[in-house]
Formats: sequence, structure tokens, C-alpha cells
Amino acid sequence: MYEIKAVGARQIFDSRGNPTVECVIKTGFGRFKASVPSGASTGTREAVELRDGGKEFNGLGVSRAVQNVNEILSVVVKGRDCRRQKEIDSLLVKEDGTPNKSKLGANALLSVSLAAAKAGAAAENMELYDYISELSSRNPLMPVPALNIINGGKHAGNSLDFQEYQVLPVGFKSFKEAFSAGVEVFHQLKKNLEKNYGRSAINVGDEGGFAPQLRKVEEPIDEILKAVESVGYAKEMVIGLDVAASSFFMGGKYLIEKKSLGIVSMLEEYETLLKYYPIASIEDPFAESDYHAWEEIVKKLGKRVQILADDLTVSQEALVAEAIRRNRANALLLKVNQVGTLTEALESAALAHNSNWNVQVSHRSGETNGTFIADLAVGIGCGQIKSGAPCRGERLAKYNRLLEIEESSGALFAGRKAFKPK
Ligand code: PGA
Ligand code: ZN
Repeated sequence: MYEIKAVGARQIFDSRGNPTVECVIKTGFGRFKASVPSGASTGTREAVELRDGGKEFNGLGVSRAVQNVNEILSVVVKGRDCRRQKEIDSLLVKEDGTPNKSKLGANALLSVSLAAAKAGAAAENMELYDYISELSSRNPLMPVPALNIINGGKHAGNSLDFQEYQVLPVGFKSFKEAFSAGVEVFHQLKKNLEKNYGRSAINVGDEGGFAPQLRKVEEPIDEILKAVESVGYAKEMVIGLDVAASSFFMGGKYLIEKKSLGIVSMLEEYETLLKYYPIASIEDPFAESDYHAWEEIVKKLGKRVQILADDLTVSQEALVAEAIRRNRANALLLKVNQVGTLTEALESAALAHNSNWNVQVSHRSGETNGTFIADLAVGIGCGQIKSGAPCRGERLAKYNRLLEIEESSGALFAGRKAFKPK
């Protein structure tokens, strides 16, 4: 019953219409399916997404990754007990044999790893979040959603340099209340943007947030706070930013608002933002290899605000360890496809948690309708998730799954303290 009987993969398409991998695993308990997301503002040290190259799909086809699942990885995991997640993942990693999964593709490996976890949960007759909670020895907790309601950077066709402007509904008793309030803010923001900037301002970007033609770094925050106030949640909501600074770091300088800023000026910019706005989280404030700048911001602001590492650590344990040792951030953004197996992602999260870092589970800008990360966020009890705006099916799939989980799990809502730097 428990053994993996068959493994198959196919090419499907993500929310940007790019090819990605979907895997199905068969056991005596049924068929279990998982798919893989894809980023646009990727860190250079992420595990390798294997793409076909050539003309078709602008080189983004995944037929080689699919073939690697069907012909190689399927042989490796067939006959294995689907409840042995660690063992399955280590077999996958060993079969690839490269440090960055470039031989078989992190996309190929991850599709099998996630499908195996779903099969394992079903075999134990458990919900996926409970199964992950056991794997990670953490108590389930409902996460605060970081709702990216204004998109910029590489995710939108506007002139905003910062990539994500999030509203964080922290001051509520449940995920349901928090998310619903976030949805109200989203709709109020839509009305305001349309009124002030015209209809084109309410077009949405890759993660479902609006993409108005604003230029200044602080303008989106002003708009979000106005919307928050007019729906009456000024006390319950704070702001999160994903600066994604690697994307405008050129020749050792940060190019924002047509100015070229060094580390000191950027630090001043962040200090000013913190002075005037209720910001609780800043992701990727500096470029992925501008280590000194990360160390400086943690020294200066790390007690007051969550400094969240994405491109810096790319969910990989060795890089997380280095960042912890050097005090370069105080929180980890966790994206399963940056590392390639569930077990490795859980190990990175565990290291972060054990070092008193916060952890935020994250989608990618290119997503499928899969909901794995909703269960992951609850299961590792990290208290934070980002899955874009409450808009576009692939974003809502995760939030709707969280609504379902909250009903069945009885898990508490993380609230404000999830963002407190420790
Ligand atoms: P990405 O964006 O999926 O395009 O990398 C998300 C992020 O930077 O956090
Ligand atoms: Zn990011």
C-alpha cells in the first residue's frame, strides 16, 4: 500500500503562460499531484530550473525536466515507502549529484518531492499541514498574509523601482478576519487609484497587485495607507516591502527614481521610510552580494524591523548559515523551488527558526494553482506567508486553502508577533 507504484510528469503552463513541470505519484492510496512555480526576479544562486532552450516557448520548455522525471527519477523512487520523505529527497539529490541540481533540474526534483509528500500525508491519513508539522516538529499556526497589492519592479510594466508593496493585516484574531480585511483594502485601493490616476492604474501585475504609473518610492505606501484608513483598519494593518534591490543594482550603485545611490544614501532612505510609515518588514533591501550593506542595515534597523532575506539566501541552508553567522538579516524567505526538495527547505527553515530568525513562506511570481505552500506555511508554524494580492486564481488558490485549513485545524492565528524581530 505504501510503496510508490508509479511516477509520471508532464509539461503544464504557469500563470505567465510559461511551461512548468507537474508530477503525479501513484500509491495504493490514490494519485497525488504537485507542480512547480517559477520566479522572474531570481537570485543567481538559486537551484537550476532546467529549460530546453531553443525557439519553442522562448527557450523555456521543460521537456528535458519532464523526461528526467519519467525516465530517471521515477526509477529511483519507485518501490519506496512514500512516507519516507527524507529518504526519497536524499535519493533525488544523490541522483542529480550536482551542487545546484543542474543535471536533472530542480524543477524535476521538486515536482517529485512535493508529490511524494502529498502521497505520504494521505498514506498516514493526515492533512498535509499536519504531516509537515510532524516532519518539522513544529506546531501548526495560521500565517499572516503579506498581500502584495501594488506591483512594481520586474513584475509590472510601470516605473516603480521597488517590486512589492504589501499590506500586512496583523491585528486580527483569525486568518479569515485578517484576509477579509485585506480584501477590503484591496478593493478600496482600486477605487482610489482609478479615481486619482485613471482606469489604466487598476491594471494588475504578475502577482495580482495594481500596477499604477507611480514613480516615487513612497507614493504606493501613501495610497495603501489611505485605503487602509478609509476602511477603518489603521490600527490593525502594517506595511511590508520587497525592494528586490538586486534588480536595480548596477555598477555598485542603486538606481532608484533616476538617482544613483550608494549604501549610505540607501540606508538613509530606509530610515526615513521607517520614521514616517508603519513598516514591519523589508525584504531584499540590498543586492544579493552587497554583504556589507546587509550587515549595516541589520546593525542600524534590525531591532526595529524584519530584514527578510530572499536573493541573499535563496532558501539554501549553507547560505542561511553564513547569513546568520554574519548577522546579515533576521528573517528567511522560504521558496521551495529555490532549493529543490521539501526536506532541504525544511532544514533551512529549521536553521532559521533555531537561530531566532523569522520565516516567511513564499510563492513565486510565476505560479500554478497548486496549494502546497499554504500547508507548508501552516505546518512549519512560521506565522507568515506571501502569495500576492487577493486577485488572480493562482494567488487565491493558496489563500482559499488557508481558509479551509483554519476551519479544520483549529490552529491559532500568528498575528503581530510573527513580524517582531527577535
Ligand atoms: P519572483 O518574485 O518569484 O519573481 O522571484 C518574488 C520575490 O522576489 O520574492
Ligand atoms: Zn523577493
